[in-house]
Amino acid sequence: MEEVKQKKKVILSGIQPTGIFTLGNYIGAVKNWAPMQDEYNCAYMLADLHAITVRQDPKAFREQTMTCYALLLACGLDPEKSIIFIQSHVPAHAELGWILECYTQFGELSRMTQFKDKSAKHADNVNAGLFTYPSLMAADILLYQADLVPVGADQRQHLELTRDIATRFNGIYGNVFKIPEGFIPKAGAKIMSLAEPTKKMSKSDENPNACISILDKPEVIIKKFKRAVTDSEAEVCYRDGKDGINNLMTIYSTVTGKTFDEITAEFAGHGYGDFKLAVGEAVAEHLRPIREVFDRLMADKAYLESCYRKGAEMASRISARTMDKVKKKIGFVL
Ligand code: TRP
Repeated sequence: MEEVKQKKKVILSGIQPTGIFTLGNYIGAVKNWAPMQDEYNCAYMLADLHAITVRQDPKAFREQTMTCYALLLACGLDPEKSIIFIQSHVPAHAELGWILECYTQFGELSRMTQFKDKSAKHADNVNAGLFTYPSLMAADILLYQADLVPVGADQRQHLELTRDIATRFNGIYGNVFKIPEGFIPKAGAKIMSLAEPTKKMSKSDENPNACISILDKPEVIIKKFKRAVTDSEAEVCYRDGKDGINNLMTIYSTVTGKTFDEITAEFAGHGYGDFKLAVGEAVAEHLRPIREVFDRLMADKAYLESCYRKGAEMASRISARTMDKVKKKIGFVL
């Protein structure tokens, strides 16, 4: 008898190509993507349509998107195993994005904390796209009938809304969309600023010591960790109120695989200086191969182009199936 093969589950995730990924983007999101490629059918996307909700300089934006594409590959995403593509290359995203806006309520979008934060931060450009952003993100996910969406903790609310939109749409038209589950890693879901450890690490931080870029040179990484803000105790342990140390322990734990207890034991009797140096060295060592592969990839633009063209083709094929179904259900003349 023929064996029934279990179909692999589908994963989709995305990241905005607005600058070199930070250690926070890496630990909270991208680092978790590569190990999933064997077990799942994965699609990973550079969300350039999302990025223009904030004004971008055209030349820098184009360069950054190329840089970020190379970074995805350098972080272990494999175009032979996964679909790695640029959002604007697949028009179905904008198309389904518009449709889903008509199934998203004004009140729902008004409650999104990212909208509130970003409209406060860019008060001179509170555009409609910034507001409807979550409907576009829902389209990204639902187009691929994704089962799982690995994201950082800050995207949890958008994912909940995606599920609500999909459930509403299915309620009207029958089973069109798979309802996706979030996949938010426990440790390292949120990496904090090194200068103000109650704030999320952000590439737009004005203090250059607050944020590690994954392409920072080893000496820069070590220097920034040496300056990391801690507390006035001298105990390397994970405890409420020790935001700086908790953050450093989370980072050290994700790059070395050591547990918090092992880390506490390792640094018993040592000052914070030793610990901060160890974290800096471990991070620099962990990021070294990524930087090396990145440099090689950036020297071969033709290869990068062949990868993103192929990704766009595969993504278009899959998303067209969902688009056909959606249009038929809504009653568009086909
Ligand atoms: N909104 C996400 C962010 O800012 C990026 C993103 C866009 C995304 N579309 C997505 C993430 C779909 C997961 C799935 O980080």
